[in-house]
Amino acid sequence: MSKIVLVTGGNRGLGFSAAKALARSGAVVIIGARGEIAARKAVDVLDEEGLTADWVELDVTNPASVRAAAEIIWNVTADSMCW
Ligand SMILES: NC(=O)c1ccc[n+]([C@@H]2O[C@H](COP(=O)([O-])OP(=O)(O)OC[C@H]3O[C@@H](n4cnc5c(N)ncnc54)[C@H](OP(=O)(O)O)[C@@H]3O)[C@@H](O)[C@H]2O)c1
Repeated sequence: MSKIVLVTGGNRGLGFSAAKALARSGAVVIIGARGEIAARKAVDVLDEEGLTADWVELDVTNPASVRAAAEIIWNVTADSMCW
């Protein structure tokens, strides 16, 4: 089973490099980003390499945004999780 990894600030810089490295090592990567355009661009780059990635809107300084992202991730990934 693939690991599911959330990378905050994953749309550029070190976060994007980490997201790419994790995806290349077989993880399903969820890029947490504040802006849709930058997030989709980052996901497209990973997609073009055949890697598995998606994104979720996430501003880590905003508790409501963190809660909403956690709920989305839980709903999308719960079926694949094994506790
Ligand atoms: N680059 C280095 O050599 C280096 C060395 C040591 C430590 N660091 C530290 O590592 C971190 C990343 O560095 P970087 O060079 O990759 O920076 P960067 O290119 O500026 O990227 C920062 C990332 O964080 C996101 N971000 C900023 N505020 C956010 C928020 N409130 N919620 C969610 N995401 C947020 C940005 O998203 P947006 O695109 O929406 O702005 C962007 O994706 C920084 O804290 C930096 O100080 C960097």
